[in-house]
Amino acid sequence: MKVHHIGYLVKRLGRSEEAFRKLGFTVEKDVVYDDVRDVNISFMRSGDYRVELIEPASKESPLYPLLKNYKNSPYHLCYIVDDLEAARSELEKQGFMVIRDNEPAPALGGREVIFMVSADIGIIELVTESAGDGDF
Ligand code: NI
Repeated sequence: MKVHHIGYLVKRLGRSEEAFRKLGFTVEKDVVYDDVRDVNISFMRSGDYRVELIEPASKESPLYPLLKNYKNSPYHLCYIVDDLEAARSELEKQGFMVIRDNEPAPALGGREVIFMVSADIGIIELVTESAGDGDF
């Protein structure tokens, strides 16, 4: 499966963007507030690599508790799949477990995503290919 992005949990999004700029990344999509997860999200890119910077917007964010374990670090890879439901049930057969079922991702043009976890590689995210409406 093709990787869509690397998801980074960050404490201060602006400062993380600055740090990634020093490594040659540029902003691909400016900050979007994701009201499903109460986080601010931006995307940056360098060549074939895209990072998603995810900053919990408040202590109420379901992602906030993760900051304790992860601090500023990558915590999921997002994979592009042809069919969300088919990919989910195939991966379930392979031992992956759903941790957040289908939910829209405002920062990805409202497309639905699924989060799953493997005891051996941690959290993954699944998303379908962009319809090519200017999004990615
Ligand atoms: Ni993601």
